[in-house]
Amino acid sequence: MIHYKSKTEIELMRQSSLLVSETLALVASHIKPGVTTLALDSIAEQFILDHGATASFKGYHGYPFTCCISVNDAVVHGFPGKQELKDGDIVSVDVGVFKNGFHGDSAYTFAVGEVSEELQQLLRVTKESLYKGIEKAIHGNRVGDISWAIQEHTEKKYGYGVVRDLVGHGLGRQLHEEPQVPNYGKRGTGAKLKEGMVIAIEPMINLGTRDVYQDKDGWTIRTADGKPAAHFEHDVAIEKGKPDILSSFAPIEAAEKANANLCSSYYGLENPVL
Ligand code: MF3
Ligand code: CO
Repeated sequence: MIHYKSKTEIELMRQSSLLVSETLALVASHIKPGVTTLALDSIAEQFILDHGATASFKGYHGYPFTCCISVNDAVVHGFPGKQELKDGDIVSVDVGVFKNGFHGDSAYTFAVGEVSEELQQLLRVTKESLYKGIEKAIHGNRVGDISWAIQEHTEKKYGYGVVRDLVGHGLGRQLHEEPQVPNYGKRGTGAKLKEGMVIAIEPMINLGTRDVYQDKDGWTIRTADGKPAAHFEHDVAIEKGKPDILSSFAPIEAAEKANANLCSSYYGLENPVL
């Protein structure tokens, strides 16, 4: 059953989604070689609690952390731990918060230090595909229109692997509601999008094969070929005429840029990119 939200409820959801965005921005400001993913998790958890919210993932089906932190070949649901980030890694950070009865859920994949051109492209194209999917997230369209747009941009255009085993989802009082939102599919198929629906769209895109497996920790999803994967997620309210993106990458991108400038001045570059 699909749960439709009133305008007032959507404003509450926007607060939850934006708190996730601010949390991700704070995490972004701490991403650098040498930091452990567990340290990032603690920073996120404290920030969420300080803002009168709780972490949606902690305890969800027994998940033991605030964030899912997935490095390189880990696609999603990675455990934070003692592992240190290193130059050239890519790291997906996925955060959920519960506030005023509603969940927010968003993810962003960061480059650590200097990453290869190949991985920079994977990050750019995966983020672009999220926005191409979002463009289709309007009243009267179908879920398959979103799925198709993401698959076209990533698989058809760039030959990347689109993960089939995990999908986006409805969002609200529950972290996972109907409908499912796959990142592959046919235009004009699937559930009809209607005003008042809120969905989390989250392309999981692999540099190589689309096949994945579950790590023996029981959670972490990894690529079958060991190549890296990217993951970006936004919460979107369905309206007539245009999508309403409840989360925002603006604070995250600002933190990312500030961080890059710090690093380039640290490395003694003359003209840090602005
Ligand atoms: N964004 C992820 C999802 O929607 C987060 C869930 S992780 C879990 O699947 F730990 F909560 F399961
Ligand atoms: Co999600």
